[in-house]
Amino acid sequence: MSNKEKLFRHGILDIKAYVPGKPIEDVQRELGLSEVIKLASNENPLGPSPKALAAARAALDSMNIYPDGACTELTKKLSGKLGLDPDWIVFANGEDNIITLISKTFLNEGEEMIMADPSFSSFAISARAVGAKVVSVPVRSDFKIDLKAVAAAIAEKTKLVFLCNPNNPTGTISTKSEVEEFLKAVPEHVIVVLDEAYKEFVDDPEYPDGLDYVRAGRNVIVSRTFSKVYGLAGLRVGYAIADPVFIGGMKRIREAFATNRVAQAAAVAALDDDEFVHKVHDMNSAGREYLYREFERLGLPYVKSQTNFILVDTKQDIKRVFQDLQREGVIIRPGHIWNLPTYARVSVGTLEENRKFVAALEKVLGL
Ligand SMILES: Cc1ncc(COP(=O)(O)O)c(C=O)c1O
Repeated sequence: MSNKEKLFRHGILDIKAYVPGKPIEDVQRELGLSEVIKLASNENPLGPSPKALAAARAALDSMNIYPDGACTELTKKLSGKLGLDPDWIVFANGEDNIITLISKTFLNEGEEMIMADPSFSSFAISARAVGAKVVSVPVRSDFKIDLKAVAAAIAEKTKLVFLCNPNNPTGTISTKSEVEEFLKAVPEHVIVVLDEAYKEFVDDPEYPDGLDYVRAGRNVIVSRTFSKVYGLAGLRVGYAIADPVFIGGMKRIREAFATNRVAQAAAVAALDDDEFVHKVHDMNSAGREYLYREFERLGLPYVKSQTNFILVDTKQDIKRVFQDLQREGVIIRPGHIWNLPTYARVSVGTLEENRKFVAALEKVLGL
């Protein structure tokens, strides 16, 4: 540890930084390629919601003015849509920022946070950053979150459970009956966070709406984002829904202007863009089916997904496959970061992108 590193808070050096998807520009520069597609960060291949884009453009003119820190209009609009009072909602700079805010609000140093492994790494980063201990519960052999094992891991020191539903990177869901059985086993001193970043892509009728548990007065916080189905990942809008007491605590320490002016305007407009949501959903479901068929043709096992990405076993060293795919102009997320050394997580793209990916995969795997 260097003298400068000694100045860090305890535990900072034990935290592994978030690994983002490799940017298109990096691959273009490194490999001298002009056409590169990125299927690595579960972004929206149809771009942003057109209504949101128009509203964002109009909002640019007033970027010299601070945003409304309370997100009054956006909160009102969302609360109307959800049928909840505005004080049940807090917005932040992306759902990632909500995750950080939850850990900062609820986790004391030395307390425990439970999450599945693999799941979304921001849960662990946010908890460790405030000195909490992360307890990881391996997913089952079918890649579903093992809710029985998560319940069994709850201890005296447990404060938070982050449940990603659907889970990233497995694409699986915990069903309504599974979640309800799990919640019955959760004691009063534990808060369950249901991360529903991918909820709009789910087709399974057994998928629960986390808001039912919030409304029922459970110690549940639901977190969601405008990054995925609305295509606003670059603008950063996420929110949490929970009992006003929980939300009130989070509001005490959130950044004063966390959700910027352009993002708020875009998100308000996006909430009116049901047409785009349906289009994105339908294209994604068709893309998933196309990729399943192609994986089956190539003899590659995959995990059935309820999201806009699929975990697929390439049966070869994924670090090499990842490099080789880049040379073909395709960026995927290599599974070794989740100790899945032959797996890729691939985002569902447009039909054209999916075809390009399959052709590249077939080539680099020598199939
Ligand atoms: C499960 C999950 N939660 C949260 C996020 C963060 O979303 P945002 O872009 O709103 O920060 C992501 C982003 O990929 C995610 O996969």
